[in-house]
Amino acid sequence: MMLSVKNISKNFGGIKAVDGCSFEVKENTITSLIGPNGAGKTTLFNVISGLTAPDSGTIKLLNKKINNLPPYKIAQAGISRTFQLTKVFKNMSIKDNLLIANNTGEDKMKKLLESVYLQKPLNTTASELSYGQQRLLELARALLKPHSLLMLDEPTAGVNPRIRQELKSILKRLRKDGKTILLIEHDMDFVMDISDFVVVLNEGKVLKIGKPKDIAKDKRVLEAYLGK
Ligand SMILES: Nc1ncnc2c1ncn2[C@@H]1O[C@H](COP(=O)(O)OP(=O)(O)O)[C@@H](O)[C@H]1O
Ligand SMILES: [Mg+2]
Repeated sequence: MMLSVKNISKNFGGIKAVDGCSFEVKENTITSLIGPNGAGKTTLFNVISGLTAPDSGTIKLLNKKINNLPPYKIAQAGISRTFQLTKVFKNMSIKDNLLIANNTGEDKMKKLLESVYLQKPLNTTASELSYGQQRLLELARALLKPHSLLMLDEPTAGVNPRIRQELKSILKRLRKDGKTILLIEHDMDFVMDISDFVVVLNEGKVLKIGKPKDIAKDKRVLEAYLGK
């Protein structure tokens, strides 16, 4: 198993942001974490990547416990992630943004940019890129960092339809290349199209785990989204 999350809970004051969550991510799959706003998705991502300490529970990456490690150790153990609000360094060039992830040559960088449909010169300042292109740059940076599991927090948020389509084919190609992806996403068409498994979170709890077609027709899932 690539990732196993067991009984994770996290409170903020009186708020049970994550409440006894368990799920697994199989190798070489795209697994999507979905759920209404405030369901606890980002908190769970932060717990997995070590930015937030859980109150209880265990997380294993490739059968090794990681939930007691600091973020940089978890990154070294093999998790690479992007953020809901993009975190590229806007006053730095594309090249310098990529160098932060990994000291690599320009040829490799150019190939990587091509593979994420970001055809811009390496010396382009990140602030000159559109928001969607900045997200692609962040994705490229996450890909460049050596990893076993790629975690993406709402990669399509605020991104135009063309880049959204490109993201779909990028993620499908990564899976074909053997990658494992855990994704937070609110665009249901996107989720249904690319996911092998879907984990539905509601009020900090796992409501349902299944294949996209099982999720789409689940009454409780529809209720959680549409209200009662
Ligand atoms: N650092 C924090 N301090 C206090 N409350 C937080 C914090 N982070 C998240 N929360 C709360 O936890 C709940 C889950 O938030 P979040 O994980 O961001 O949900 P999602 O990503 O599913 O929209 C929300 O009620 C949110 O307000
Ligand atoms: Mg979120």
